This record gives sequence, structure tokens and C-alpha cells, in this order.
Amino acid sequence: MTTILLTGGTGYIGSHTCVELIEAGYETILFGNLCNSSPIVVDRIEKITGTRPVFVQGDIRDRGTLDRLFGERSIDAVIHFAGLKAVGESMMKPLAYYINNVGGSTTLFDAMQSHGVRRIVFSSSATVYDPNAEMPLKETSPLGPANPYGHTKLMVERILDDLAEADPEWKATCLRYFNPVGAHESGLIGEDPRNTPENLMPYIAQVAVGRLPVLRVFGNDYPTPDGTGIRDYIHVMDLASAHVAALERLFDDKRFDQMAINVGTGGGYSVLDMISAFRQVSGKAVPFEMVARRAGDSAVSFADVEVARRALGWRHRRDLEQMCVDAWRWQSVNPRGYDQ
Ligand code: NAD
Ligand code: WQD
Repeated sequence: MTTILLTGGTGYIGSHTCVELIEAGYETILFGNLCNSSPIVVDRIEKITGTRPVFVQGDIRDRGTLDRLFGERSIDAVIHFAGLKAVGESMMKPLAYYINNVGGSTTLFDAMQSHGVRRIVFSSSATVYDPNAEMPLKETSPLGPANPYGHTKLMVERILDDLAEADPEWKATCLRYFNPVGAHESGLIGEDPRNTPENLMPYIAQVAVGRLPVLRVFGNDYPTPDGTGIRDYIHVMDLASAHVAALERLFDDKRFDQMAINVGTGGGYSVLDMISAFRQVSGKAVPFEMVARRAGDSAVSFADVEVARRALGWRHRRDLEQMCVDAWRWQSVNPRGYDQ
């Protein structure tokens, strides 16, 4: 059996990818420090799949723990999700982001290299693109992150490029996620932000369930049909399946070509579209107020998905309604997330 180590595997995207990997026949090891996730996730994954993934608590900055992990277990590839991801926080605590996301990654890659593990899928982000780039965003579009979080993602991409250049045994794919939303259809796992959500969909869901009073819509004067920002929302289970496709490509030497790949749907929805779709699906009111634009936001962002189609043979399957149905099931069954 092929064994995959998922750093940050108990987090939002890691947990959904773990389910998809188990269902595709992989053995999984989840590794993480639980700074933004709950160990209950492991029970929930077992409930969904009938298989309990191994969970090892630890930090990617801790070389000793990584050496023990790679020494004790046979690991064929790594999917590297672990990292801090709040854009606003990264502007206030840049060093924490560089230490965790860049320093943690170099420690991980060095441990992998020492133990002969050189296949990796890295969680990158659409935030690596220049906010003024033309739409749709192609992998070759101008890069230029607008915040420290985005810089850390681009730095790690470059480190992986350099590693592969120096040693062709390194096979890395950087998946540039657009806006992941939704949850597993079981309602057993989903997104569970520790603090007040920064992202739109979990915010809407918490307003609908009564945990938050009102959504603030950041700007209605953008050059878009309804004046609110447009983003490429992608169902987290579609994103999970993109990881399985990326791994298959890593193990298929003939097809391998180092690259970054966009993972989105190729289209976009406005903030008002999202509110109205969520309202329809949940039958709940989503009170909102218009406020000023949020610093650093662009009007429109969506992916060109041709490379994903060609290189991974992957495309998204789930539509906006499915994203809202699954997000609402998760939120209404678990109004306090994993805190019971
Ligand atoms: P998440 O916070 O739910 O999961 C990340 C996990 O990594 C958490 O469980 C956290 O405890 C763990 N972690 C953080 N620092 C660690 C460290 N030093 N050592 C060990 N574990 C550590 O986030 P997510 O939404 O699942 O995102 C996963 C990855 O995808 C992140 O790298 C994120 O930057 C990237 N990404 C996320 C989005 C998004 O909108 N969710 C979009 C683009 C890219
Ligand atoms: C979506 C739209 C907001 C909250 C961020 C990161 C990106 C990636 C995904 C990690 C925008 C509007 C939001 C709210 C609102 N994460 N909005 N009220 O900014 O596209 O991307 O998450 O890699 O790197 O930058 O996502 O969900 O924050 O915002 O009106 O309370 O919703 O202005 O138009 P974003 P988001």
C-alpha cells in the first residue's frame, strides 16, 4: 500500500483530502500541532471511511519529531498542508508566518531529503498572483503577493523549484487553491475556524446558524455586475480529489513535469450571489450590511483551469448549490464546530 503523510492533515482541507485518499486506497498518516484543528477529526474520518488514519501530534519546525516519524514509518509521499493561513494576522505578525510557513517547510523538506522521501504536493494559493493581473489567472500570470502570508507561499514554491532543479529525484507539485468552501457530504467534517472567520463562506454559515449577528459585505462599488467582489469558489471535496490526481502524477514518472497548477472552477460568484445561494439552501435569513472595501482585496479573481485539466485530468464536479448544501449541513449539525 502507498503511504501518504499529510502535514496539517487534521485541518480543513487535509481532513477532506484524507477521506478521499483512504477511499482511493492509500494509507494515510496525519501529522500536525493542532494549533488550528481538533483531534476529533480523526474519529470523524474513521466514521466516514471505516478506516482510522494514524495521527501523530507534532510540529513541522521540530526536526527531531520529523526524524523519528520518517525513521519509524515507510512514507512514499507527503502532502504539505501545515501552515498558518490568516491574511490579516500575517500582516500583524509577519515573523510568525515566515518562521512557521517557510522555516517549517525547509525543516520538513530537509527531513524528507535525509530519509529519501522526495515526492510532495504543496498547498499553495491563488494569493501568489499579482492582484492587478488579468483574469482568468493562468499559472504564467504575473506573480506578486500582496501580504506576508502570500509571500510565504511563493517562497515555498520557489524552494521546491530549486530543489527539483538541483536533484531530479525531487518531484513536487504546487496546487494553487482558489477559494475552498463546503464540507464532506456526511456533515461529519467541515471548516471550523478557531476565531471569528475571516473568510466569506464560514462567516455566512455562522450568521445563518445564529452564532454571528450580521455579515459585513466589504465593498459594493467594485466594477462587477452587482458591485461586490467575485471569487472562484471550489467545493473542498473537488479540491480533495485534485490532490489524489496530483499524487498519481507524482508516481507516474513518464508524465512528470515540475509545475504549479491552479485548482478552481474557472468561474466566479459575487458576495451577493453567495448570500442568496446560501439563503435559498438553508431557508435562513442572512442579514448583511454594506461596509467599505477590505484593504488588499481585488474586485475579481478566478482561475484558468486548462493546466489542471491537461496535467491532472481533473476538473471540478460540484456546483454552487452543492457547496452551500454541504456547508449548511456541516454548520447546522455542528453549530459549534468540533467543540461539543
Ligand atoms: P487549517 O488551518 O484548517 O489546517 C492547517 C493545519 O496545519 C492546522 O491543523 C494546524 O494546526 C496545522 N499547523 C499549522 N502550523 C503547523 C506546524 N508548524 N506544525 C504542524 N502543524 C501545523 O487550514 P486549511 O484551510 O486546511 O489549509 C491547509 C493549507 O492550504 C494551508 O497551508 C493553507 O495556507 C493552504 N490554503 C488554504 C486556503 C483556504 O482558503 N482554506 C486557500 C489556499 C491555500
Ligand atoms: C471572499 C470575498 C471579500 C468576508 C482568502 C485569502 C486567500 C485564500 C482564500 C488562503 C471577497 C468578501 C469576505 C466578509 C465579505 N486563503 N467578504 N465579508 O479574500 O478571496 O481569499 O481566502 O490561501 O489567500 O486571501 O477570500 O473568503 O476572505 O473573501 O464581503 O466577512 O468575500 O471582500 O470579495 P479571499 P474571502
